[in-house]
Amino acid sequence: MEKHIILLPGDGIGREIIDSAKQVLTAIASEYNHRFTFEEHAIGGNAIDDYNTPLPDKTVDACSKADAILMGAVGGPKWDANPSHLRPEKGLLGIRKQLELFANLRPVKTISSLLYASPLKEEIVNQADMLIIRELTGGIYFGTPSERTPNGVVDTLRYTREEIERIVERGFEAARIRRKHLTSVDKANVLESSKLWREIVEEKSKQYPDVSVTHLLVDAAAMKLVTQPSFFDVIVTENLFGDILSDEASVLTGSLGMLPSASLRSDGLGLYEPVHGSAPDIAGKGIANPLAMILSAALMLEHSFGLVDEAKEIERAVNDCLLQGFHTADIHIPGGVQVGTKQMTEAVLENVTTKSISDSICKSYV
Ligand code: NAD
Ligand code: IPM
Ligand code: MN
Repeated sequence: MEKHIILLPGDGIGREIIDSAKQVLTAIASEYNHRFTFEEHAIGGNAIDDYNTPLPDKTVDACSKADAILMGAVGGPKWDANPSHLRPEKGLLGIRKQLELFANLRPVKTISSLLYASPLKEEIVNQADMLIIRELTGGIYFGTPSERTPNGVVDTLRYTREEIERIVERGFEAARIRRKHLTSVDKANVLESSKLWREIVEEKSKQYPDVSVTHLLVDAAAMKLVTQPSFFDVIVTENLFGDILSDEASVLTGSLGMLPSASLRSDGLGLYEPVHGSAPDIAGKGIANPLAMILSAALMLEHSFGLVDEAKEIERAVNDCLLQGFHTADIHIPGGVQVGTKQMTEAVLENVTTKSISDSICKSYV
């Protein structure tokens, strides 16, 4: 198979970890006889420095012609005081919106060798395995007006019926091929948008009688994520709630540095990126955890290219590294070996080409 992949390293640790994913993809290509070509483009703070915009037109053009897009992360203190149109994050929001990547999948699964690393008790995180589906191109992130007024400030939360329907459908479809339990998270006791959201979930549920539905208010959902994470199968929620809940859920797996994501358009075009940010506090030190980025590449193989075996091979290699005790500084494995980004990547590469020791515990991420 031949595929053309756009790489958007971004800022901070983005550059360090995207190289890890590229190396792993290259190893997979040679093992399975595929040809992946890569083309790099600017986004975020580095694009502001070089082109005076966080999202140059040629980045958008290249991404719209690509087979898939892999992104590191954007942002950093250097640009924090910039006016809002010159913030690195505007580049990320812009590419999501312009490419209509409305469905953001954030799988969260505890890994047996990392149970100790979770801040929660082992008996609570054990068995947690959920898929957070976050609406990504609507809601308060994109509503207008969003501005300072003479006396204060205004942000606008706006959703069309169609925007809610298409993401809720994704939720039901995903639940149908998993454990058939959909939790819809809203704030229907306060927000009009959430009242419509809940109505649409109820309407759609008639088409999916095999899927059981729970409605949770977002505050209660935040609590349940840390008291009973195994309650959740698929969570579907709007943009801002999904942003917050997915960072909270990420630590179930031991570290934010472990969580991958896929942002999909209706025709399957996808942008794949870790859930974490550019981690300016550790950028340039060579200690970033590359696993969320590498697992994002696995999601790309599965969702955009249908290469399920190859995706599983990467997930297995990551699991094997952790079972062998390799970990970066953000994770503690008792008796393990702490390594940097490069060595962790080498450990994954080594495992990609050696025989499996954890096939039996490795399920697909989604
Ligand atoms: P962050 O996710 O960058 O970092 C939070 C904490 O997690 C930090 O202590 C960091 O060192 C640690 N961390 C994150 N990823 C790690 C990894 N792979 N390995 C080891 N440790 C890791 O969040 P933040 O500090 O709130 O934000 C920093 C910048 O990143 C901001 O400018 C923010 O807007 C941006 N951001 C970008 C994205 C993105 O590009 N998708 C996502 C979130 C935040
Ligand atoms: C994420 C990030 C982004 C978001 C920021 C950087 C705009 O936190 O991808 O989770 O809020 O969507
Ligand atoms: Mn976030």
